[in-house]
Amino acid sequence: MIELTINGRQVSLDADPDMPLLWAIRDEIGLIGTKYGCGIGMCGACTVHVGGRPTRSCITPLKDVAGAEITTIEGLDPEGQHPVQQAWQALQVPQCGYCQSGQIMTAAAMLRDIPDPTDADIDAVMTGNLCRCMTYNRIRAAVREAAATLRKEVTHD
Ligand code: FES
Ligand code: FES
Repeated sequence: MIELTINGRQVSLDADPDMPLLWAIRDEIGLIGTKYGCGIGMCGACTVHVGGRPTRSCITPLKDVAGAEITTIEGLDPEGQHPVQQAWQALQVPQCGYCQSGQIMTAAAMLRDIPDPTDADIDAVMTGNLCRCMTYNRIRAAVREAAATLRKEVTHD
């Protein structure tokens, strides 16, 4: 048995310890917001947070995340209203949408480290998250908007 904590919930899986985390998230647990793109760590569609860090779940074996706090797009905010998600909606970032949960998870983690990112910061961090629909300009704008919202929240706390 492998014990995982996903979105604050304890899950026990009778699974191969070498199974990629992405398989467990989607096929065993049924959280399908995290997407399978390349399967080799190159596109970012499968990005989740492990201990708060953006992580490619397609190349992360279950044995490496036993006991860690895992957050998927479904757990980023209970209402789906994390400032990054709100900015994505306001600026209508997605086109086909396939890459977007990975984009959002990478952006949310970045804004914890860099509260006021420049475009160069955004590009440097987001470069590993590919979008075949080329939504990069809207992603950049939405990251800036989410960053501004998060900075206001910190000021008002
Ligand atoms: S599916 Fe994991 S990086 Fe592409
Ligand atoms: S919105 Fe289609 S791949 Fe990014």
